[in-house]
Amino acid sequence: MTEPKVLPPVLLIGASSDIGMQLAREFARAGHPLILTARETEVLEPLASDLSIRHSVAVQLVAIDVLHVPEARRTIAALTPPPHIAVCLVGLLGDQQQQQRDPDQARIVIESNFTGPAAILEAVADVMAGIDAPTTIVGVSSVAGDRGRARNYYYGAAKAGFSAFLSGLRQRLTRSQTTVITVKPGFVNTRMTAGMDLPPALTASDIACARLIKRAIDRRQLVVYPWQWRVIMTVVKLLPEEIFKRLQF
Ligand SMILES: NC(=O)c1ccc[n+]([C@@H]2O[C@H](COP(=O)([O-])OP(=O)(O)OC[C@H]3O[C@@H](n4cnc5c(N)ncnc54)[C@H](OP(=O)(O)O)[C@@H]3O)[C@@H](O)[C@H]2O)c1
Repeated sequence: MTEPKVLPPVLLIGASSDIGMQLAREFARAGHPLILTARETEVLEPLASDLSIRHSVAVQLVAIDVLHVPEARRTIAALTPPPHIAVCLVGLLGDQQQQQRDPDQARIVIESNFTGPAAILEAVADVMAGIDAPTTIVGVSSVAGDRGRARNYYYGAAKAGFSAFLSGLRQRLTRSQTTVITVKPGFVNTRMTAGMDLPPALTASDIACARLIKRAIDRRQLVVYPWQWRVIMTVVKLLPEEIFKRLQF
């Protein structure tokens, strides 16, 4: 009798995000053991028991706060089993006007979207360096990082930093077995965008976004946008600054 195939363990950092919970469902459905993180693991307990009953997969819950970098890096180094696929979904939009007034609020946005996730993914890369098999790191960045807008430029600046970090990490690891993927969603209907007036034709569901991420991993894509946003951002990036600065969107 042949042994059932054991699929590689998947780490979702920020699994309590709406997109993260849907991604956990996608990986559980495929049969992967899961390591799910949130700041408070209690919020993940209903999801974990649902996934382990429904799909018979092992689900571990681990507390990680990316603002507590040394502790978070120690937690990553101690993960057993070590993850072969890791996706960082941590993000904080916050209130742009508050960030303009209060540098501490601005710093929290930069640390939550850029320096914190970067420090954690470096620790993940160190763990993966010890695995003799193909491994994957995914950072969920944003189209907001492609060009700063008045509406969310601290968040955008942080995501720009995170995208540049992922690009550099990908180049550093190019001769290793680790693939680094950058995902840049456009608008997604989640807790983060609740109450915003978003154009329905350009706004994805959390499920669609999770599938975009899963497909990128399965196909080993490097930089991924929803196709409409790839077109939009190609145009937005080409606009001369004199025109761009006058636009209100
Ligand atoms: N929604 C959109 O339109 C959109 C567009 C482009 C990119 N994105 C990106 O997609 C990712 C997922 O976003 P979402 O829309 O699903 O948002 P969400 O539901 O608001 O989730 C945000 C996640 O970030 C985590 N988080 C925040 N600060 C943290 C910290 N200090 N340490 C650890 N975790 C922290 C939250 O954990 P807790 O449960 O512990 O609070 C939560 O899991 C984010 O990176 C976001 O920037 C979203």
